[in-house]
Amino acid sequence: MHGKHFVGVADLDGARLAAVLDLADRLKADARSGSLHPLLPGRMVALVFQKPSLRTRVSFEVGMAQLGGRALYLSPSEIRLGEREDGIDVARVLSRMVDGIVARTYLHADVQTLARHATVPVINGLSDLEHPCQVLADLQTVRERTGGRRDVRMAYVGDGNNVAHSLMLAAPRLGVALRIATPPQFRPDPTIWGRAGEQAQQVGVELAVLDDPVEAVRDADFVYTDTWFSMGQEDEAEERRAAFAPYQVNDALLRAAGSRALVMHCLPAHRGEEITDAILDGPRSIVYDQAENRVHAQKALLVELLGGNYQRLELERQG
Ligand code: CP
Ligand code: NVA
Repeated sequence: MHGKHFVGVADLDGARLAAVLDLADRLKADARSGSLHPLLPGRMVALVFQKPSLRTRVSFEVGMAQLGGRALYLSPSEIRLGEREDGIDVARVLSRMVDGIVARTYLHADVQTLARHATVPVINGLSDLEHPCQVLADLQTVRERTGGRRDVRMAYVGDGNNVAHSLMLAAPRLGVALRIATPPQFRPDPTIWGRAGEQAQQVGVELAVLDDPVEAVRDADFVYTDTWFSMGQEDEAEERRAAFAPYQVNDALLRAAGSRALVMHCLPAHRGEEITDAILDGPRSIVYDQAENRVHAQKALLVELLGGNYQRLELERQG
């Protein structure tokens, strides 16, 4: 039995992951046709953020509003998690007041501490180790483009970071083969890589980590990239720019990928660094679909974790 939290993508087993994505599709289709379902009426979620955000904050606020509840944003200067107050007390106090906590932290251990001590669900809204909510939306986006097709191939090119980690742990479990190309000194975390490799082997789906971006993107359906320096690594920007230059997603790399490849990026993008303007703004880019899907994938996750009554959707349909 998996827990009530979503600290990493592994907290949802394969069946629950697929169920959340199915519900996300349904909620998106209905929202687009003007039908919102108040599945979490009066419920409140606290957003405890140590880092800046556009998509994560707005998508949780909009998502909770669409579900009939609310989100309360607590900026980095308000809580000062682990500094003004220990995570243990933040978790216990918030659990008396709200129905769920979304935490964006530097240390992954800070999200784990909140989860250990909260009696309400804790969702990782990005830590240095994982970005699981992003990857839920990404997989929804991949499924929209591929339907039920098998043998879907994704390449991730750039830094072996939090987004890469969550992709490694989730994509193969949904049958998406993943090739990651990073400079040797910026590989994914070895523990995550080991665990993801075992899972991929169990389901018989490719997961490879390479040096060569051209080899990674060959025959890919999706080419994914992210910033070369994540939040908190700004001081390393210069050194990283040099190491990652051969990993830019540009016309030449996409030519190597073949004609069907679509381009993904979690955003924010550093235009002209990991991705060129022409590619980001071009016809193969699906980055704004990814951003839009944050709202719907997270609504589905919130309903799953906070116990929203989604049988109600069926009753509404029949009624
Ligand atoms: N992709 C993403 O999480 O964006 P924000 O940092 O703006 O939330
Ligand atoms: N890897 C990036 C993702 C931002 C959404 C970061 O952690 O800054």
